[in-house]
Amino acid sequence: MAEIVAGVASSHVPAIGVAMDQGKTHEAYWEPLFRGFERSRQWMAALQPDVAIVVYNDHATAFSLEVIPTFALGCAAEFFPADEGWGRRPVPSVTGHPELAWHLAQSLILDEFDITIVNRMEVDHGLTVPLSLLFGKTPRWPCPVIPLCVNVVQYPPPTGHRCFMLGRAIRKAVERFAADLRVVIFGTGGMSHQLQGQRAGLINREFDTRFLDMLVDDPRAAAAIPHVEYLREAGSEGIELVMWLVMRGALAEQVREVHRHYHVPASNTAVGHLILENRANSP
Ligand SMILES: [Fe+2]
Repeated sequence: MAEIVAGVASSHVPAIGVAMDQGKTHEAYWEPLFRGFERSRQWMAALQPDVAIVVYNDHATAFSLEVIPTFALGCAAEFFPADEGWGRRPVPSVTGHPELAWHLAQSLILDEFDITIVNRMEVDHGLTVPLSLLFGKTPRWPCPVIPLCVNVVQYPPPTGHRCFMLGRAIRKAVERFAADLRVVIFGTGGMSHQLQGQRAGLINREFDTRFLDMLVDDPRAAAAIPHVEYLREAGSEGIELVMWLVMRGALAEQVREVHRHYHVPASNTAVGHLILENRANSP
């Protein structure tokens, strides 16, 4: 039986990828941010997952306003890093896991989640930056990756509750997969940030801290946060945090917080990071 063994939450700020690619991680501006991920890399290296499911949003790279899937599941055997305007990131291409991905598609759709199946897709910083943060610079990602895109770019995004319930359905699906696979799930994006308008540069440390606490101990309360509260408290791009709820929904009711890191700023974004493991005997 396959199982989800841990969850990772991480912001996916594009400038983090640029800093890694250009060897700037020890510069004074970046060092405190990357220091918070050193332990995460050790933890991941010890975990040695067989597969990673990465919940992220596409930033008008694979999809445009012509096609806006709410949930899009990557079922391909390979996903190339996208050129987002300044060349492809010098990171490995992403090997998929079509067998598990198709199993997920079947299980989720029959579970009444309307998943878009994607057989060809390039992946942008939303996916590659968290992989870089957790796996470091590497000639090859250490495990296959299943991309799961959530629309948080064009209104209406799914609710936090819908995302949480999708996570529950993912957990059920993974546990019905016959092969013995240890799966780690990533929820990416956030935390508070706003890229445009009068409140551009908005950071709300208090909201972010409360959200981190809730995600660990009271995820159903986090799942009940309405869109308007994300907009008001976390800025227009803070809505990306609903993707962390997919990850949390895929974990047990009770989890153990292995690691937390919060850093302001990276570009004009609050960066948050959590590593969560299921508590023994928790449903
Ligand atoms: Fe994003």
